[in-house]
Amino acid sequence: MSWPTVFDTSGMSVPKRWVVRRTPDQNEAADMKLETRNGMSLFEVPATLNADGKLTDTCVQQALTVMNREGFVIFTDLMSDEESDVGLELIRQTIEDPDRVRGSFASETDNRYVRRDFCSLPSTMPVLSFAAMLAQRIEPVISTYCARTHPLLEVTTLTSYIGSSHQYVHRDPAGVISLFAAVADVSEAQGGTVFIPGTHLDGRAEERRGATAHELMELFRVKSNAYILCYNLAKLWRMLRQGKTSLAWGEFRDRVFSSAWDEHQPNLMRFILGKNSQFSIRNLSPRTLWRLYKHRDALSEMFHLVQTAPRKGTVILYQSDLLHAGPDNRSPHPRRLFSMSIARNPVEPKVWHAGYSPHPTLIANSISLGDLLDFPAFCAAPVAGLRDEKASG
Ligand SMILES: [Fe+2]
Repeated sequence: MSWPTVFDTSGMSVPKRWVVRRTPDQNEAADMKLETRNGMSLFEVPATLNADGKLTDTCVQQALTVMNREGFVIFTDLMSDEESDVGLELIRQTIEDPDRVRGSFASETDNRYVRRDFCSLPSTMPVLSFAAMLAQRIEPVISTYCARTHPLLEVTTLTSYIGSSHQYVHRDPAGVISLFAAVADVSEAQGGTVFIPGTHLDGRAEERRGATAHELMELFRVKSNAYILCYNLAKLWRMLRQGKTSLAWGEFRDRVFSSAWDEHQPNLMRFILGKNSQFSIRNLSPRTLWRLYKHRDALSEMFHLVQTAPRKGTVILYQSDLLHAGPDNRSPHPRRLFSMSIARNPVEPKVWHAGYSPHPTLIANSISLGDLLDFPAFCAAPVAGLRDEKASG
């Protein structure tokens, strides 16, 4: 089996499997790092706003081209520093609320041990005004996928801390456009979201990558998740050896040997019993292993993991059925993202609540994309693009 080509920090391509980095003390457990590509220029569109505060036509055309081809697009400088600070404050206020509504998605175990704090934001005036600002700026893009009547499914904060697990590569429930807003810089070590470009299910994969495209992208997902299982286990083993300060009492057991449902922990019990729908022994049948070997070159050529590291003010838009994963946070600094999701189709409440985490205030008073577009939007200061236009004009 061939392994993914990875890129070192100097940008030179080097063939490796896992990069095994040992600490100065060679007796320490090896630090296995899941390698990704991080060249972002193919996916980025510098945000430029017109006098109405919306993306310019040129910007929209660029964004739609990238979004349709790759399944996601990264708008740099969509928010000013002042606006990002407001988003960060909204997140801080929510996280500090002991009665906050914790999300059941991502990893419940990580949430329980405060490795992540994924929770819903209430439909207050400041939160909706911030969400409206984002929706109104990207309206020409998001309206291509979502009608005004389609509901806002959730507004959440995705905060992660050191020691969290790397999520398995997965697809979110289909038929949704999701947005991540970086309200502070997010480094790779903090866990910028990983995407596998071009793996969204828009019915054009065969046209772009040949008749076996779907089969190959699922194989690549299996291959990636096998790495992630080993990566998470190695990381937890290393944390266990570091002693009391690294893992909470019972945490190792709950993350590795628990029978409780959690799709994003390296839980061996559920892996062996085939009860993890994201990745389990069921995904490693002899036939699959043979196909992984047979298609090893095609997989390496066609697919790669891309890790984002959005700077403050950046907004990422992605199609929910694109393969992606939230990495672990390897830094001492919390990773904070503001997130919201809008349906591309009318949604049954049962399906909506099963796949997303709306705050009770959003369930009580549902909000559509049209409502957001008409809502008074927060605006602290002109963003870079608009400033540039004025300066050059
Ligand atoms: Fe996800």
